[in-house]
Amino acid sequence: MAKDKIIIFDTTLRDGEQSAGATMTLNEKLAIAELLDQMNVDIIEAGFAIASDGDFEAVKKIAENTKNATVCSLARSIRGDIERAGEAVKPAGRGRIHTFVSTSDIHLKYQIKKTKDQVIDIIKDTVTLSRNLCDDVEWSAMDATRSNKDFLFKAIETAISCGATTVNIPDTVGYTIPEEYAALIKDIRNNVPNIDKAIISVHCQNDLGLASANSLSAIQEGARQIECTINGLGERAGNTAMEEVVMAIKTRPDFLDFEVSIDPTYFSRISTLVSRASGFAVQKNKAIVGANAFAHESGIHQDGMLKNRSTYEIITPESVGYNSSALVLGKHSGRHAFKAKLEDLGFNISEEELDSCFKQFKDLADRKKEIFDEDIISLIGAKSSKHDRVQFVALEISCGSKDSEANLTVIFDNNELQLKTKGNGPVDAIFKATRKLVPHEARLDLYQVHSVTGGTDAQADVTVRLEDSKGRTFSGHGADTDTLVASSKAYIAALNKIFNQASTANNSSTSSNIAI
Ligand code: KIV
Repeated sequence: MAKDKIIIFDTTLRDGEQSAGATMTLNEKLAIAELLDQMNVDIIEAGFAIASDGDFEAVKKIAENTKNATVCSLARSIRGDIERAGEAVKPAGRGRIHTFVSTSDIHLKYQIKKTKDQVIDIIKDTVTLSRNLCDDVEWSAMDATRSNKDFLFKAIETAISCGATTVNIPDTVGYTIPEEYAALIKDIRNNVPNIDKAIISVHCQNDLGLASANSLSAIQEGARQIECTINGLGERAGNTAMEEVVMAIKTRPDFLDFEVSIDPTYFSRISTLVSRASGFAVQKNKAIVGANAFAHESGIHQDGMLKNRSTYEIITPESVGYNSSALVLGKHSGRHAFKAKLEDLGFNISEEELDSCFKQFKDLADRKKEIFDEDIISLIGAKSSKHDRVQFVALEISCGSKDSEANLTVIFDNNELQLKTKGNGPVDAIFKATRKLVPHEARLDLYQVHSVTGGTDAQADVTVRLEDSKGRTFSGHGADTDTLVASSKAYIAALNKIFNQASTANNSSTSSNIAI
């Protein structure tokens, strides 16, 4: 008998991007969407089209480029939101409008200040409108897990009777536990008369660290769509991590007898891409995609592994895309081999971009003998764009146990500028010089250094997060064999994100960064 399929709905580009500081550029979003499509994600929630012109453009471009997946935009229960979402997903082979309204007493009383009858009318109007614009409509009951059950059943029934094809039961505040959530899904199936006309979806936040467990318990009671993100990125403590639920289903068919279309060999690659674009490092002990997920340190474990890997390994690193840092290219590798490697790693870049990446690769190969896949991923993730207002040119540092001084050269709005500045250590000197050369109000929120591979000639991968005057945070990356050069590049990358955001917001006819 064919297994039931679990639809994988990825919301990295919407709920994931809502995490404080995870703002991504259009190119980063396009690259992530392309990989999601290649790995057979069923639905890509590409953004929240009304939030800004930039968000609209991103959803529309993803809708234009995506080959197989359904492309979805979120919309509040507001006519303008829904129409904008419908317009953004129109170019998609398959588009979806996802609209939502709160159903819990707490939200009705304190947040949206509506009665239950008013909420039912809102559902009727907004789901009907969405369905007139798009055949595929998802409706979400925000804060479903803290809602009165009878009201929730009525709200779901109304949404389905007005044309919702998927009904989502979010655990918006990450409050539920597996047994309770499974029982709620069962009750919905038993008490909503028209439930057979829609797919039940689950969307779990991770405030108690139970998002994946809750999602898996829900599919055992009839939910057939899981909403999730790569690396569990998302508001507050994050969302259900796609890699966790997919690998649980693939690893434990004895309990989870379902089919998923995802190709898991993409997990390592997409995890790196999302971490880089969002500025959120993956914790070392993160399930499936953490650096230590397949590392065996204890003597007893190592002994077992040498005898038979199954003693301590329930999934193989290869099955989720780790090739144990294969040495790939070096100083003598040509453009053709470099291009082939990029394609192998999932990067499809234009000929023009290839020229600049190849030059950066050659520079790196001159300074670093062995170039690993991680080096190339890092190099691509940290590459700047020629449209950026600020470009790194050169850095000289004098430092040691006494004073530190940075001599920094940048191009700012096409003018080459240079400045020597003292600081409390070399990083402080570099950042001070940048602030003087490119005056701005943003303040440093995070400075983080990682080594891309092992060895003393490894590239440093630096993340800088800046907070602008409106409290919004922007992350930038820099990669270089010199940690201080990488630091300077990362600061400049974050600054360019702020400038890009400002220019998009200036062109925007709507307010940006609408909070959900
Ligand atoms: O957490 C939530 O309730 C949401 C909905 C919009 C699905 O993100």
